[in-house]
Amino acid sequence: MTKEPSAAKNIFESKRALMDEQVYQENIEFWEKAWGMVARPYKQLPQLSYVPRIPDELKQRRVGSVLDLGCGSGWLSIYLAQHGFQVTGVDVSAQAINLGKIWAEEDKIDVNFDVMDIANLDYGEGVFDGVVANSIFEHFPMDLALPMAESVLSMLKPGGTFLGCFDNVGGGPGEYYTLADGTHVYTDKGRKGMLLRRYSNEELEQLFAGFASLLVEEVDAGSRFVIAIKSI
Ligand SMILES: C[S@@+](CC[C@H](N)C(=O)[O-])C[C@H]1O[C@@H](n2cnc3c(N)ncnc32)[C@H](O)[C@@H]1O
Repeated sequence: MTKEPSAAKNIFESKRALMDEQVYQENIEFWEKAWGMVARPYKQLPQLSYVPRIPDELKQRRVGSVLDLGCGSGWLSIYLAQHGFQVTGVDVSAQAINLGKIWAEEDKIDVNFDVMDIANLDYGEGVFDGVVANSIFEHFPMDLALPMAESVLSMLKPGGTFLGCFDNVGGGPGEYYTLADGTHVYTDKGRKGMLLRRYSNEELEQLFAGFASLLVEEVDAGSRFVIAIKSI
């Protein structure tokens, strides 16, 4: 079931120091446009070394319910549901979520997909055993990533698991200007509005400082595989 935009508190409201509303909206518009060009679900898993590890790491930590943050067209939501997890995938792009729903329906896989802005999630506190986020945080500046990590912490049950991958991005060619914290705001035609930022390991420690434990492991040429556990 698709949820209507909620009146939940916007976690970014007082913290969006680096950019104005227009920059924020243009990033969302970039994604809606990008997903709008995809006609059918692409039912292949990405060639990433850590993919088979994700369900194993979650199972080891007794995760049952999972929120897939910024799920896109849902490959990770569907993959985890196929491994027996009870999955909710959420993304700001209605088109991405539509592709995920088509995929789930065609392959008879049970996943709950919602259209919501990460800034405005209304799932409540302490509701998920696990939150996964693949290639999401690096599309936000640090001053928004911090409340995002706080929001993940609050949505997790005590002892819950965050698992994510932070890509090694931002080094390639492209036209962009740079926010004070190094976030690129792309201006070239193909990526106009997209935000991109590489997180250092020290910044990852800052993001997950509220968690009881943190593992940061380098994978796939400079990307970081992250597992953070909430205290019991
Ligand atoms: C690089 S894609 C990653 C998608 C997916 N996790 C994957 O691994 O393929 C980034 C995703 O973040 C979503 N996104 C961007 N801004 C968002 C926001 N404010 N709230 C929710 N999702 C957002 C985009 O629509 C896009 O699907």
